[in-house]
Amino acid sequence: MDFDLVITNGIIVTASEVLPSGLQIGVRDGKISCIGTNLPCGGSTQVIDAEGAYITPGGVDSHVHLAQKNAPTGDGWETGTRSAIAGGTTTIIAFASQEKEDLSLWPVLDEYIKVSKDQSYCDYGYHFILTNPTAEILHNEVPLLAKDHGITSVKLYMTYDAMKVNDREVLDILFTCKALGMTTMIHAENHDMIAKLIEGLERNKNTEPYFHAVARPRIAEDEASYRAISLAELADAPMLLVHMSSDVAVQHVRDAQGRLLPIHAETCPHYLFLLSDKLKAEPHDHFHGAKHVCSPPLRHSPDDLEGLWRSIANGTFTTFSSDHAPSKYDVPGGKRLGLVDGIPRFTRIPNGLPGIETRMPLLFGQTPACQTPEQARLSLPRFVQLTATNPAKLYGLDGRKGSILPGYDADLVIWHPGDTGSCVIKQANLHHDMDYTPFEGMPVGNWPRYTILRGQVVWDQAKGILGKLQYGQYLKRGKGEVLTGRTGNLPRGMLEDERKYWR
Ligand code: URP
Ligand code: ZN
Ligand code: ZN
Ligand code: ZN
Repeated sequence: MDFDLVITNGIIVTASEVLPSGLQIGVRDGKISCIGTNLPCGGSTQVIDAEGAYITPGGVDSHVHLAQKNAPTGDGWETGTRSAIAGGTTTIIAFASQEKEDLSLWPVLDEYIKVSKDQSYCDYGYHFILTNPTAEILHNEVPLLAKDHGITSVKLYMTYDAMKVNDREVLDILFTCKALGMTTMIHAENHDMIAKLIEGLERNKNTEPYFHAVARPRIAEDEASYRAISLAELADAPMLLVHMSSDVAVQHVRDAQGRLLPIHAETCPHYLFLLSDKLKAEPHDHFHGAKHVCSPPLRHSPDDLEGLWRSIANGTFTTFSSDHAPSKYDVPGGKRLGLVDGIPRFTRIPNGLPGIETRMPLLFGQTPACQTPEQARLSLPRFVQLTATNPAKLYGLDGRKGSILPGYDADLVIWHPGDTGSCVIKQANLHHDMDYTPFEGMPVGNWPRYTILRGQVVWDQAKGILGKLQYGQYLKRGKGEVLTGRTGNLPRGMLEDERKYWR
């Protein structure tokens, strides 16, 4: 039987190596069928000549907010996933979110299924955000989320009035998820520190966008990250700290990993490329900084960026996600969110930046594909680990997503051959439903020439979006893998036989 698709003349990059050129990928029924040479092409076989370009796995973006109630001007599924495939991402995991008054997760899930079903250009799964983890929810509903719906990860917040859970609730969630083989994602910032600082800033009428960054200093992230790690250590639970922006907080992770705790870390493009000066007013627009309000905030110094880049290279970070959580700057109807009677109020600016489409090109641009060996920030296999293989494994999609191997979905990105810097990020070229990109004008080394999802070309840079809205499939995920350290550690300061008294 002929292959449906054969890709020739590319350089395949996996999570462990850059394969010799000349290997071909044969695709049948949407799956990678084999990798070899001289693959037979019949009359019905589509052939794509990669012309010497790198081929990487389709991106897995494991931190995406679409159709969120707290971002009414944000991206929905259609525009968000369209933007994903145009930037080389073929799988996303997005957040269904409990609100405090939701005493059951089922209506929340039903509603989220309703807004996403047949509304996705890429394959997708859900995480669940827990804001009110009652005993009923933890004991009866979360196990069914995993078993019946393949939702095997939850996120919790240590900050934000509307979302925050206390340390006891963090522990309850960690113990439950540990028992079910689920991964807990934690947004770690010290809520009370931030509340205290906001009170003082408001008293002094310091309410412009820039003061968002002042209200959320690194120490708030550092303290909460260390606390989250300690709670996970007590629960002996795998955990991932999301969207890390502070090098000191990342050092806590590195230390935990050194003690073989299963503590994972994620960072995002904006923390690697942008600084807090972006929050300042511009001559042409006083409120401009609102475009760069996210939590944790952009940090102040290039040293912060350097520390994070080191942890990209040295293996501390497990995943590199977009945290695509945008809101429009100019709201239809003319009222900018966070401008109250013409006065900027940073506490009212929706948090989060657009970035689902620019994530892969921004990081690829820092590999030896686009940089001299001395200037490259990370290797090509490390790029693949961070953007595809690791998130797939951590979130229970291994065997299907995130790797270029026989039997896996034929999700691939073919980059431009030999392109090292001709491409500049422009809002006008992006496919989200936002009115700006925080990366405007930034050069990237390359851009996906083709994005392939289950053997179909869904993005062709010359022709645009070729995928269909209903093509994206829901992914029932399995148990995630522990990618660093192991479980079974005794919490620090506890004697072996003490555990039996309380477990
Ligand atoms: O600023 C951010 N990151 N907003 C999105 C929600 C979150 O905390 O991930
Ligand atoms: Zn968060
Ligand atoms: Zn500007
Ligand atoms: Zn987020």
